[in-house]
Amino acid sequence: MEYLPGQEILKDVSMELKRGSFHFITGASGTGKSTLLSLLSLQYRATKGRIRMFGEDITHLPREEMPRLRRRVGIVLQDYRLLDHLTVAENVALPLKVAGESQQLIDDKVKELLEWVGLPEYHNARPATLSGGQKQRAAIARAVITKPDLLLADEPTGNLDSELALRFMYLFEALNQSGTTVLLATHDEHLISLFSYPVLRLKDGKLGK
Ligand SMILES: Nc1ncnc2c1ncn2[C@@H]1O[C@H](COP(=O)(O)OP(=O)(O)OP(=O)(O)O)[C@@H](O)[C@H]1O
Ligand SMILES: [Mg+2]
Repeated sequence: MEYLPGQEILKDVSMELKRGSFHFITGASGTGKSTLLSLLSLQYRATKGRIRMFGEDITHLPREEMPRLRRRVGIVLQDYRLLDHLTVAENVALPLKVAGESQQLIDDKVKELLEWVGLPEYHNARPATLSGGQKQRAAIARAVITKPDLLLADEPTGNLDSELALRFMYLFEALNQSGTTVLLATHDEHLISLFSYPVLRLKDGKLGK
């Protein structure tokens, strides 16, 4: 993968995430963890190689086909990307809105999720008024609200204290046990060591052991 011609970020990366698996991806800052996740979330196209997703070759997937696949993927981005003109509740509701769910179901689910992530009193708040960790929790609620087939989480606990980080790890674990494939990028070796999930290690743009 190259963002600029001749500047290869990911090289010969070959990996398979089996349906229902849970993987960590780690590596020093700048090694390409977020880049890899952005390829899988169809944010960028690979400049070389091939990507298959849900049994489909998506390397040259036409743009109009993307929403269909994106709806099956929950994403927690490193910079959250909450929409500032919407309330926290409206942000969290977005994936269900896009999926065309009823307002009643959306209201119930959003309430449940906001309670789960410890933000019930921020229902009507604007994201700009939240702390970093609170934004992160709202972004997680939004990513998991549809119980996606694939969850891509980029440093999802980077802004949380260790107790909250663990709590969210258990949420991801529960989601995984109910069928969601999880790929979680983190540079937190301690967090990784607390779980027995396989670890993909990126170094100089390549995957090692
Ligand atoms: N949109 C972009 N345009 C050009 N270069 C980019 C872009 N995004 C990332 N890069 C470059 O790609 C490389 C890998 O970045 P990436 O964000 O994937 O690393 P990372 O492993 O997620 O790092 P961190 O742990 O700091 O989040 C870096 O050298 C970065 O400068
Ligand atoms: Mg990153």
